[in-house]
Amino acid sequence: MATFIIIGLIMAATKITVLSNGSLKVEGDFEIVDKEGNTYDLGGREIVSICRCGLSKNKPFCDASHKGHFEHEAIAFALPPKIKQ
Ligand code: FES
Repeated sequence: MATFIIIGLIMAATKITVLSNGSLKVEGDFEIVDKEGNTYDLGGREIVSICRCGLSKNKPFCDASHKGHFEHEAIAFALPPKIKQ
């Protein structure tokens, strides 16, 4: 009789929500690194908001500076097919 042990086959998904007039909400299994590959210490947070307006004083994180200064209605769409090179 064979015994099988399954380890690590279940990966938690990362979900990124594009918020209208605001940030990108990131939740799930993720890490955020800088250009050198150093990991940002999220202080135990499991959900963070990433600035996409460029106004945050705490980039890459949102500090709510977008309020009243950034407009974008977040509606999902399909990108054109990737061109193979
Ligand atoms: S998206 Fe919130 S400060 Fe930029």
